[in-house]
Amino acid sequence: MAGVGAFPVDVSGRGRARREPVAAPHVKALFDIPVAAFELAGPGDESTLAPPEAAAVAAAGPRRRGEFAAGRQCAHAALASWGMAPAPLLARHDRAPAWPAGVFGSITHTENYALAVVARPLDAGRRAGGGAEEDRVGTAVGVGVDAERTGRLSPDLYPVVFTAAERSWLGRTTAARRAEAATAAFSAKEAFYKAQHPWTGSWVGFADVEARPASGALELVPASSLSVLHHWSWPVAVRWTASADLVLVGVTVHRARRSPRTRRG
Ligand SMILES: CC(C)(COP(=O)(O)OP(=O)(O)OC[C@H]1O[C@@H](n2cnc3c(N)ncnc32)[C@H](O)[C@@H]1OP(=O)(O)O)[C@@H](O)C(=O)NCCC(=O)NCCS
Repeated sequence: MAGVGAFPVDVSGRGRARREPVAAPHVKALFDIPVAAFELAGPGDESTLAPPEAAAVAAAGPRRRGEFAAGRQCAHAALASWGMAPAPLLARHDRAPAWPAGVFGSITHTENYALAVVARPLDAGRRAGGGAEEDRVGTAVGVGVDAERTGRLSPDLYPVVFTAAERSWLGRTTAARRAEAATAAFSAKEAFYKAQHPWTGSWVGFADVEARPASGALELVPASSLSVLHHWSWPVAVRWTASADLVLVGVTVHRARRSPRTRRG
């Protein structure tokens, strides 16, 4: 099992601290529709938050304020790259970012690293120029991204976050690759959650969806009869990339042919 390629930037957070997000072209390959992707290694800069954004985390501790700022900086850079006018990016009641009309995206942060991806399907569909690519863009209604430090997921937690089938294939993975594979599978489920939740408004638990190896990568399939899973076209492809100690996972969710076309605000 392998990710989708090399990871070109220093994401350790130990190098020269960057206060500005940078474009992350290697992340675009994690999605099957066009996205803008920006990342920031190092702490975020709280002074860049718009007043309503700063107010939303005013009561939080410095670590939370810093990661929130880093995620917002990346998200604003991604929105600007699609030509969107600057505006505060607040959180919905469920903590998901309240993306402006016409776009959807996802934010992740982990120790000293933040990443945001934003898709603008209308523009992307026009650019696709018709045919299968335009169809693919047209059925996509969510993206999810997740970053985890490899090995942060302790094996003690495997029974909590993995199904029996997942533990079985992880058990057959070589010891050298197991921590990375487990991190990717865990992140894939969190990325799926972030992609699906703004559309369905529904909880999906770790036992409801499972990751399995597929063509040298991973894919997600339903593992329970939860009705909200009928919204999606399955399997959901999982793409990931890894550096020495960081795994980045992206998923794109596509409506099933007969899925309700509702989006929860
Ligand atoms: C919501 C959740 C996925 C976030 O993941 P995490 O690893 O804890 O944190 P990350 O740093 O990667 O992501 C946090 C960001 O996710 C986004 N987010 C939070 N809740 C969200 C939601 N309901 N929908 C979409 N995005 C959400 C936010 O942008 C948040 O950052 P911000 O608050 O600074 O804006 C996780 O906390 C959770 O609740 N998981 C349980 C459900 C689950 O994963 N099920 C898996 C089976 S499919």
